[in-house]
Amino acid sequence: MPAPRTFRPFPTAEALADAAAEHVARCLREAPEGEPLALGLSGGSTPAPVYRRLAALDVPWARLHVFWIDERCVPPTDERSNERLARETLLDHAPIAPENVYAVPTTLGAPEAVEHAYDATLRRVLGGAGLTVAIMGMGDDGHTASLFPGADFDAALGASDRFAAHTLAPPSSPVVDRITLTLGLLNRTRHHVFLVTGAKKAPLVARIRAGGACPALPAACIEGGASNVWFLDEAADGAP
Ligand code: 6PG
Repeated sequence: MPAPRTFRPFPTAEALADAAAEHVARCLREAPEGEPLALGLSGGSTPAPVYRRLAALDVPWARLHVFWIDERCVPPTDERSNERLARETLLDHAPIAPENVYAVPTTLGAPEAVEHAYDATLRRVLGGAGLTVAIMGMGDDGHTASLFPGADFDAALGASDRFAAHTLAPPSSPVVDRITLTLGLLNRTRHHVFLVTGAKKAPLVARIRAGGACPALPAACIEGGASNVWFLDEAADGAP
């Protein structure tokens, strides 16, 4: 049975970021030994303050493996790169072993080549295990990672034997070509940590709380193994 979602509203962005970073650090410290300790990082705007706080916390950095939940197919120097965001806010400020940081190799060439390379890396490092903690967001359309509404979860994006896949974001997105972890792998994660802010997302949060929103809202398709905690600001919580 997947863990039920829990929703935690916070009065300020600072309080949300503090609590989320503490939660991630605790989940990593308390993870069982005997499987890779693996953290998945998302892009977007919400995680940056959490990453900055996390860098200063007590985490078993030396044995931590870092992956990206999804990446835009741009070079790591591009301002739209999720790797760049994570390096500037977290990885450059924490004692992580550089060989344990597995960025999506976007400069390899065609998205299909990148997808195959990242899939192989995930498979090699994780073996049969999932991520320990996945830090995730939700877009205004209900997407999470680069799993957008309309995604075909009966194909590669949902397959339990696929770890990463190439997918396309809507044309209005900052970058259309994306590499994403599959729903199959994401749902083997031990702890999901959603960071969701802003009034635009309140109706989506309400639908997910009510249940039955998968697959229309892909964020609702993510099921936690041990926990699935949604850190919300008051606007996204939508409570009167
Ligand atoms: C990306 C993401 C994406 C993000 C959501 C929420 O690269 O675009 O990883 O899934 O988490 O779009 O983004 P915000 O935090 O900016 O709302």
